[in-house]
Amino acid sequence: MENSRETHQQKKGFRLVLFPLPLQGHLNPMLLLANILHAKGFSITIIHTHFNSPNPANYPLFTFHSIPDGLSKTEASTADVIALLSLLNINCVAPFRDCLSQLLSNPSEEPIACLITDAVWHFTQAVANSLKLPRMVLRTSSVSSFLAVAAMPYLQKSGYLPIKDSQLESSVPELLPLKVKDLPVINTRNPEDFYQLFVSAIKETKASSGLIWNSFEDLEESALVRLHQDFPIPLFPVGPFQKYFPTSSSSLLAHDHSSITWLDTQTPKSVIYVSFGSIATMDENEFLEMAWGLANSNQPFLWVVRPGLIRSYEWLESLPNGFLEMIGGRGHIVKWAPQQEVLAHPATGGFWTHNGWNSTLESICEGVPMICLPYSGDQRVNARYVSQVWGVGLQLESGLERGEIERTIRRLMVEEEGQEIRRRSIELKEKADLCLKQGGSSHQSLESLIKVMTLLFVLHTQLYFLNFVTK
Ligand code: UDX
Repeated sequence: MENSRETHQQKKGFRLVLFPLPLQGHLNPMLLLANILHAKGFSITIIHTHFNSPNPANYPLFTFHSIPDGLSKTEASTADVIALLSLLNINCVAPFRDCLSQLLSNPSEEPIACLITDAVWHFTQAVANSLKLPRMVLRTSSVSSFLAVAAMPYLQKSGYLPIKDSQLESSVPELLPLKVKDLPVINTRNPEDFYQLFVSAIKETKASSGLIWNSFEDLEESALVRLHQDFPIPLFPVGPFQKYFPTSSSSLLAHDHSSITWLDTQTPKSVIYVSFGSIATMDENEFLEMAWGLANSNQPFLWVVRPGLIRSYEWLESLPNGFLEMIGGRGHIVKWAPQQEVLAHPATGGFWTHNGWNSTLESICEGVPMICLPYSGDQRVNARYVSQVWGVGLQLESGLERGEIERTIRRLMVEEEGQEIRRRSIELKEKADLCLKQGGSSHQSLESLIKVMTLLFVLHTQLYFLNFVTK
């Protein structure tokens, strides 16, 4: 869309207010959605927290408003992401309401058609209701993992949750092909916080005016049909967002471009790219198993070791002496990579991922087959779908163990089995390309979304006027 005529769409004369969750995997899709809607003629205002604030300089055409999030230095951390999100949903209520009401009463700006928030910002539905503003929700995960989250109360009642070690390999017949170990639970100090956060997010999503997805029909058709039975609100699968603006970046960390110059020296489809997103952590033993698995595979690798990835270490200090010299030019390690560029590079032949939804979709968009090692939450569901439903990856079933890592890399990168997975990955990429073209499912969904937003604006203005004259 970046270079298309659609960027010159006439201005619609009204504004959308977007409120992203301050986590890398949530900021990226929300800001991409902002770009997409801006290209369709809407003016864009972003309300954001101080914590993990996006960089307004990257978006000169949007208006940004920062609100205080009340986090102390120790609270402003993703070490316990559920504790962080629960606290933010309390701390941000008043500052968000104040900011939004000021925007609504500002006569110098275009009128606001609707609010779009991340699904996890559950308190925003009550604020939107009190200000008589329609709210739409962006859910940044896959539809399939959302269905598993929505089933949480049932899973609790039926004894699947809390998860028992003895049941890990059992199937969950209501959510096939998921096994108990794939249920999207996130570890936290207080498990009750996890249930409360998601039960509230589900309830307030149902109360919203519509649900936007960074996914597409061909990928998740049956999940969308199932979702519609339980969520009688309009659903808009308009993804993959990253295809509209492949070079846009809302990265909170600086990209190391040596990733690309190093890839330029490698042969086509030979490199396994390894990255576990912005939140996952591991202990020293797991890190060393990973290092030896990569080394023993004899494949070239580009490895993102994010500072903080290895608990209790700054960066690579725990690697054995001589390890890097032994690898030589066959491996390249960076702190943060320009991931989409890496996946699109001709030398990249596989992606060992934690299956965060953005990473999974970015890999699908580039037709890169995956090795899946989910850490928590939705990643487990995504990994099962990648390996078993879409057939575009292999899952490491026994965690981080050097022998299994080495074998799995070779199965994907060298053996015939890998060729078959690569063929399916390319077919899926073609489907992702098609859905955005004129007449494609995501193209049509986006057109419907714009119509609904326009209608909401008209209704909202009429209601506002009616309230005004009957006062
Ligand atoms: C979080 C959750 O962990 C994930 O399960 C959920 O689906 C989204 O929110 P995260 O773990 O960071 O996200 O993973 P992911 O969804 O894959 O998002 C990471 C983003 O960071 C991707 O857009 C990726 O392109 C980007 N990235 C990652 C980089 O730009 N450089 C890197 O080196 C690694």
